[in-house]
Amino acid sequence: MQESSLEQYRYFLKDTVRKTVDFSITDQSLGVSPPPIEKGYSADAERIDLIPPDEFQTLPSMDLLCAIANRQSRRQFSKTPLTQQELSFLLWATQGVREQSSADHVRRNVPSAGARHALETYLCVLNVEGLDRGFYRYLPLEHQLVIEYRDESAAEKVGWAAFQQNWMSSAATVFLWSAIPYRTEWRYGLAAHKVILLDAGHVCQNLYLACEAISAGTCAVAAYDQELMDDLLKIDGKDEFVIYLAAVGKVD
Ligand SMILES: Cc1cc2nc3c(=O)[nH]c(=O)nc-3n(C[C@H](O)[C@H](O)[C@H](O)COP(=O)(O)O)c2cc1C
Repeated sequence: MQESSLEQYRYFLKDTVRKTVDFSITDQSLGVSPPPIEKGYSADAERIDLIPPDEFQTLPSMDLLCAIANRQSRRQFSKTPLTQQELSFLLWATQGVREQSSADHVRRNVPSAGARHALETYLCVLNVEGLDRGFYRYLPLEHQLVIEYRDESAAEKVGWAAFQQNWMSSAATVFLWSAIPYRTEWRYGLAAHKVILLDAGHVCQNLYLACEAISAGTCAVAAYDQELMDDLLKIDGKDEFVIYLAAVGKVD
C-alpha cells in the first residue's frame, strides 16, 4: 500500500479536519436556508400507509437482552414473507420520526450528528405481504412508502449490483441507505462526511436488533458496485448516493 494513500484515507477516520473548518462561513452560518429534511415526491406519486407504531404491540418480540445476545449476520432466509407490520416496525426502528420541533429539525429513533439525518431509506421489496416487487422509498415524516418503480427482476439486479452477492436474492427486502451529504455539510462543511458514516452505523445496528426481536435476520452489506447501485435507485451519484445496504428476511 502506498504510504501517501494510507495517510489520506486514515485522515478521513480522524477528526483533524474539524480544526481546518471555519464554522463562521458554513452555509448555516451564512444564513442559507436549510435543505429539506426528507426527499420530496411528486403529487401523483403512489404512496402506501405503513402500520403506525401504536399498533406494534401485537408483534411477537423478544427482550433487548436476548436480541443483543442473539444478534448475528444472517444470510439465509426462509420463504416466509415479511408482513407489513414487521416491515413498518423495521423502518420505524431505523429511521422513524418521534418529534418534529420545526420545519428543519426532527428527532428520530436513531441519533445523528447535529440531528442532520442525511440518510434516505430505499427498499428493494422482494417478499413482503401485499407489496409488488420493486423499489420503494420510506417517507419518515409521513410514515409511508412511496413507490419508485415496480420490477419483477429486482432480486437478481440488487444481488448483481452487490458484486454478485447472490445470497441477497432470497431476502424479503433489502434496505439501501443513500446519503444526501449537503444536509450535514450545510452545518459542518468538510467535517460532515465522517459523521454521516457514523450515523449509518447506528441505523444498521438498530436494524440488526429489531430483526432479532421479530424472528427475522439481517446482514449488512458495504461491498457493492457504486455506479450500478446508484443507477438502480435512479439517483444522481453526486448529490445523493448509496452508502450502505442490508438484506433482511425471516429466519423461522
Ligand atoms: C460495515 C459492514 C460491512 C459489511 N459488508 C458485508 C458484505 O458486503 N457482505 C457480507 O456478506 N457481509 C458483510 N458484513 C457482515 C460481516 O461480515 C459480519 O458482521 C462479520 O463477519 C461478523 O459477523 P457477525 O455480524 O455475525 O458477528 C458487513 C458488516 C459490516 C459491519
